Amino acid sequence: MPSHSAGRARRIAADVPSRSPFAGAAACGLGLLLAASPASAQDIDLAKARQQFVASCGVCHTAEKGGPNRQGPNVYDIVGKPAAARDGFKYSDPLKSSGFVWDEPTLDRWIEDAQAMRPGTIMAYRQRDAERRKLVIAYLKTLTEPK
Ligand code: HEC
Repeated sequence: MPSHSAGRARRIAADVPSRSPFAGAAACGLGLLLAASPASAQDIDLAKARQQFVASCGVCHTAEKGGPNRQGPNVYDIVGKPAAARDGFKYSDPLKSSGFVWDEPTLDRWIEDAQAMRPGTIMAYRQRDAERRKLVIAYLKTLTEPK
């Protein structure tokens, strides 16, 4: 997916403060890395991303296909999907009536502070570290069913 990679590289590059003398070099190096071996660059990220998911979310969520609900619902193939739509999980009313679709910005806000985003939700979780949220979301994206 070249367009995807390009978007990602841009976003990561944008995180580097523009006054930094390394900004250009970082963007450049990343471009080379992605161009040279997108698969292996992704693999490295992926192991880390999966680890982050397990550490941050794994107590309450499984993510593999057909995995059981725990305190929270299974989140396999959740990216791009409407909220509170999994069979066999008893969602809170605030989440049921949210109308959320779990695109990346919505997921990011959700895991940053679920209670603030949807008061009354039964997901008691907050992650202030944007880098960790990014990893978790990257992992969830790999668990998206091809259309
Ligand atoms: C302490 C347990 C707990 C942790 C930790 C937790 N969650 Fe949740 N999660 C829940 C519960 C409970 C719900 C259901 C919320 C509701 O119905 O209001 C939920 C709901 C969700 C939903 C909505 C699912 C749907 O079907 O609409 C997503 C997405 C989600 N969690 C992602 C995450 C991610 C990603 C993490 C880790 C960064 C995480 N959660 C950490 C308990 C947790």
